[in-house]
Amino acid sequence: MLRVLFVGDVYGKPGRRVFKNHLPTLRDQFDFVIVNGENAAGGFGLNKESARTLLDAGADCITLGNHTWDNREVYDLLQENHILRPFNYPLGTPGHGMHTFDVKGERITVINAMGRVWLDPLDDPFTGINQLLAREGLGSVFVDFHAEATSEKTAFGFFLDGRVAGVVGTHTHIPTADTRILPKGTGYQTDAGMTGVLNSVIGAAPDGPIAKFVEKIPVRWSTAEGIAQLNGVVLHVENNQCHHIERYQYTEEQ
Ligand SMILES: [Fe+2]
Ligand SMILES: [Fe+2]
Repeated sequence: MLRVLFVGDVYGKPGRRVFKNHLPTLRDQFDFVIVNGENAAGGFGLNKESARTLLDAGADCITLGNHTWDNREVYDLLQENHILRPFNYPLGTPGHGMHTFDVKGERITVINAMGRVWLDPLDDPFTGINQLLAREGLGSVFVDFHAEATSEKTAFGFFLDGRVAGVVGTHTHIPTADTRILPKGTGYQTDAGMTGVLNSVIGAAPDGPIAKFVEKIPVRWSTAEGIAQLNGVVLHVENNQCHHIERYQYTEEQ
């Protein structure tokens, strides 16, 4: 049985701070830690320093999303096996979206996929993941499905039910309360939520997004300041099945 922690999108310095300070206090409760880092560098992408912070704190694998290309340092980072971007970018795109890790005598494969509804549509993740899952020796498979629409995410969960150990969504930065094991044994949650400032609009200081909605004038968003929260999902997996799943949330003290 492998105990896996998946942590939702780390947003900017406050997100890195709560991850860096809190994860080491519970790291020995887990065999494997995956974190979505697409907003780790000031909200926009992943740079070398932010990747180092996440890895040094105890992450084993970093996944990304639609913000993958925001920071040019990502091109070097994507050469690492343990840093993944969505697999369904067109053939020839730098990086890779899947890796198999040896963990305590067992195997865990992480797949990063991206949805197509209300996002720049990539290749079809449904038919694409069928090809990935046809490979041998994957062990227990965990999927970070980076997508906007709850319908697409839930459909992807049921599409993979019984074929992977876990499907957890990212991208909306809001944790959902539908944590469960699907009928054929796949642990599922539509969105893990984010790791960043609690009193923010998906990680940004509220005045920027409010101005965008009220005045329709483009303004630069800034990372919110204040108490940060870490949002994640814990899964216990064995033989590519989920035996236990629960939400995890930690809020910094005042
Ligand atoms: Fe994000
Ligand atoms: Fe995203």
